[in-house]
Amino acid sequence: TQTPLILGLESSCDDTAAAVVRGRDVLSSVVLGQAELHAAFGGVVPEIAARAHAEKIDHCVEQALMKADVTLSDVDGIAVTAGPGLIGAVLAGVMCAKGLAAATGKPLIGVNHLAGHALTPRLTNDVPYPYLVLLVSGGHCQFLLVEGPEEFTRLGGTIDDAPGEAFDKTARLLALPQPGGPSVEACAAAGDPSRFPLPRPLLDRPGCDMSFSGLKTALLRARDGAMAGIGGLREQDRADLCASFQSAVSDILAEKSRRALALYLDRSPAKPTLAVAGGVAANGAIRSALQAVCAELETEFVAPPLALCTDNAAMIAYAGGELFTLGRRSDMSLAARPRWPL
Ligand code: KG4
Ligand code: ZN
Repeated sequence: TQTPLILGLESSCDDTAAAVVRGRDVLSSVVLGQAELHAAFGGVVPEIAARAHAEKIDHCVEQALMKADVTLSDVDGIAVTAGPGLIGAVLAGVMCAKGLAAATGKPLIGVNHLAGHALTPRLTNDVPYPYLVLLVSGGHCQFLLVEGPEEFTRLGGTIDDAPGEAFDKTARLLALPQPGGPSVEACAAAGDPSRFPLPRPLLDRPGCDMSFSGLKTALLRARDGAMAGIGGLREQDRADLCASFQSAVSDILAEKSRRALALYLDRSPAKPTLAVAGGVAANGAIRSALQAVCAELETEFVAPPLALCTDNAAMIAYAGGELFTLGRRSDMSLAARPRWPL
């Protein structure tokens, strides 16, 4: 049997995306961002996101099919993110996918957005099961033992904010553009990471749970300290604050990865691989910190290319392909789910 050709759709947050994938071969991956629509509001506005997805998704699908040089009739299945995410946003993708499935008679496959991120290392690097993945994004932060396309065991994760959220809040506090991750990373390049001693919460506790909310309070205090007396923030202060924040997040993720690898080895005798996934995995400092831990522990480290770390539909099509091969199909009752733990 031939590897299925899958059209994937993604619309769970603020990126409208479609892709055509056959196995590990990404024939096309189109991502239409909405950053400019939300810029004035300092964060993603759910209503605006949902409307923009509904307006753009058809065009996005057309582009993906055209770039892959295939038509809908060549496709074996239509995979769509069915959650978790902003309900109106997810719904826009699910409605579009149902329409395409109904019109063509092609099978529909509902995919969990987090599974899409967690399976990305298999799309980019052919990583065999089982492996350990650190999923770090705007809404999520967890260590998962991945034993199959539907078999995820959570070993630990954040007890409050996700690191992407912390990056976004840091950007807001320092008047940097959204999304915060890339702008904080760029600003940190010229900064001194040791200037502001920010906390590394929970590092003294066993296990691999994490906390990031105390970090933003500490950052706010450090910022106000730097502004005191001069009434504003100097460029160098801003860079030092970004670098100090990024280094705190890197330290937390690196130390907890060490713990997660130990937990993983308790459960699985196979040679460990640590993969990262999710938007925050695009961060260079975080990648290097994790790379260093893996080098030290003689563990394989896999970090997908940036475009496949942040939200995209290739990961949804890939995950959909694995599910398709297992015989999984969704029907027209497929629901959009705001919450859907793995
Ligand atoms: O996975 P993703 O695209 O969307 C979901 O949350 O599912 O992740 C988006 C998050 C945002 O919070 C963004 O600020 C963060 O990933 N991000 C980064 C970087 N690029 C994106 N965080 C740190 N450094 C980056 N270079
Ligand atoms: Zn995501």
